[in-house]
Amino acid sequence: MSVLVTGGAGYIGAHVVRLLVERGTPVVVVDDLSTGARDRVSGAPLEALDLTDARAADRLADIARAHDVDAIIHLAAKKQVGESVMRPSWYYRQNVGGLVNVLDAVDRAGIERFVFSSSAAVYGAPDRAIVDETVDPRPINPYGETKLVGEWMLRDVTRVGDLRAASLRYFNVAGAGWPELGDPQALNLVTIVLDRMERGERPVVFGRDFDTPDGTGIRDYVHVLDLAEAHLAALDHLRHDRAGYAVFNVGTGTSASVLEVIREIERVSGRRLEAEFVERREGDPASLIADPTRIRTELDWHGRRSLREIVASAWEAHRHRVGRA
Ligand code: WQD
Repeated sequence: MSVLVTGGAGYIGAHVVRLLVERGTPVVVVDDLSTGARDRVSGAPLEALDLTDARAADRLADIARAHDVDAIIHLAAKKQVGESVMRPSWYYRQNVGGLVNVLDAVDRAGIERFVFSSSAAVYGAPDRAIVDETVDPRPINPYGETKLVGEWMLRDVTRVGDLRAASLRYFNVAGAGWPELGDPQALNLVTIVLDRMERGERPVVFGRDFDTPDGTGIRDYVHVLDLAEAHLAALDHLRHDRAGYAVFNVGTGTSASVLEVIREIERVSGRRLEAEFVERREGDPASLIADPTRIRTELDWHGRRSLREIVASAWEAHRHRVGRA
């Protein structure tokens, strides 16, 4: 029996794949290599496949049968909020259409367990800072909407048939479990600040008048290695789960402001950073923090690594990427 990881050559997927390989679980990676890279799959077999392709469901079912797959971790998706606003139908095709094909393959190949990469973006801008899974999801951009639709599809599919599934709502993922597996794209706060530092540019802070202690936005930062471990915990849980479908926040329940993150980057890099304050970014809530009670109780998982470890590992990965480690 083996685990198929879609998006396994990407930033988060590569961490999941490495953990599976390390624990001796046979794994096969499916990735279109649009942002992923072949050298990130820790020696696992890799099948290059675009999941939105007309024949993707057949191909995927063939791959699953050939590798005796009984579980899928589905991470392959587009994840840029701004891009999703500009290209909504393309985002639906990528994230929802891709998942439709994967679920067709699940059916054809008789796969029993499924872990879905969802996002805290499904919550949108809730009226409270700390959210548990019972908070009504109200995404405020097409990216978040595609993730919520994905959750609904899984819920519906698990109501009939034998599939058992878990959706993991990631909060703010950062850091690296291994320097060579750092996030190669500068799309989120930590990587953006490091990228700007590299180019001699000051960090930009979106808004300093939020209702937070230092006026900057507060988020729940989770180490990518902790997040990867949550996927394995979910997979193990689904072996015995009778409920069929569940949603879990993956966050630490602790929080950091933008200025606190920048301060940690200063500390690990030994460089002085002078933030440039600009207007708030549209749609940014003041605070968004996970209530991680459910995942702690049901999967016995908690985010073990601190903001300091997150930022230190991101810094190490950054230096590796720019060739200075
Ligand atoms: C974090 C904080 C910014 C950049 C996004 C998606 C979400 C999920 C995670 C995928 C905020 C501030 C940022 C900068 C800044 N993605 N910031 N200057 O917006 O919390 O969540 O990524 O699933 O769906 O929405 O993450 O890293 O963009 O921002 O001040 O240059 O840093 O305003 O407070 P965000 P982020």
